Amino acid sequence: MAPSILSADFSRLGDQVSTVLGAGAKVIHVDVMDGHFVPPITIGPIVVDALDGQVHESGGFLDVHLMIEEPERQIEAFANAGADNITIHYEATANVRSALMKIREYGCSSGLALKPETPVEHLEDLADVIDVALCMSVNPGWGGQPFIEASIEKINRMRELLPDNVSVEVDGGIDVDTAPDCAKAGAELFVAGSAIFSKEDPADAYKAIARAIEAG
Ligand code: DX5
Ligand code: ZN
Repeated sequence: MAPSILSADFSRLGDQVSTVLGAGAKVIHVDVMDGHFVPPITIGPIVVDALDGQVHESGGFLDVHLMIEEPERQIEAFANAGADNITIHYEATANVRSALMKIREYGCSSGLALKPETPVEHLEDLADVIDVALCMSVNPGWGGQPFIEASIEKINRMRELLPDNVSVEVDGGIDVDTAPDCAKAGAELFVAGSAIFSKEDPADAYKAIARAIEAG
C-alpha cells in the first residue's frame, strides 16, 4: 500500500505522513503535476526533499509519480531530492527508453505509467528498463475519481506480459472494495489517496485497506 499525499492536508503534511508511517506504510506516493500533461499543478522536488529525512529515517520509500511533459528534464532534481522510485508516463515523452535508463543511472528504480486508454502492449519492448509498471485506474490529474473497472483486465494482461521482476502498481480509485480485486489480478502495490487521507482516521483507513488486500 502506498498512501498518496495528494489528498493529504498540506498545512500539516509532516503529521499526515507520520500518521500513515505509524500505521505501517512503507511507501509514500508523491504526485507531481505540471499543468501541461495534466491540468493541475501540484508539487515539485522541494516537497520530496522536505519528506526525505522523515520517510527514510522510518525505513520508508518515496515513490514519485511524474505526471509531467518531458519528464527526463526533471529526473536529476527528483533523484537528488530523495526519490527512491521515479515513475514517468509513456504518453509524456518521445524518449521513453532513455528516460527510464536515466532514472536507473541516478540510482532510482524506474517506473512506467500508462493512462487508462494506452494499450498494455507498449510495455513489452521496454520490460528490460522497467522496475515498476503503473496501471492508472483513473485518468491522471485528480484524486477521488471512481475506479475504472476495465483496469482489472489491464492488470491481468500486464502481469502476463511482464517478467516476474517487474512489479505491477495500480493508482486511482483504490479502496477496500477495489484493492482486493486488483490484488487478485496481480497488482503488488496499491496507491490510495482519498480513501486514506479524506477519512476521519487515516491510520484506520490505511489498515482497513491493507486488511482487505490480505483477506482477498
Ligand atoms: C491521480 C494520482 C493519484 C491520486 C489517487 O492522478 O496519480 O495518485 O492521488 O487518488 P485516489 O486514491 O483518491 O483515486
Ligand atoms: Zn499517482
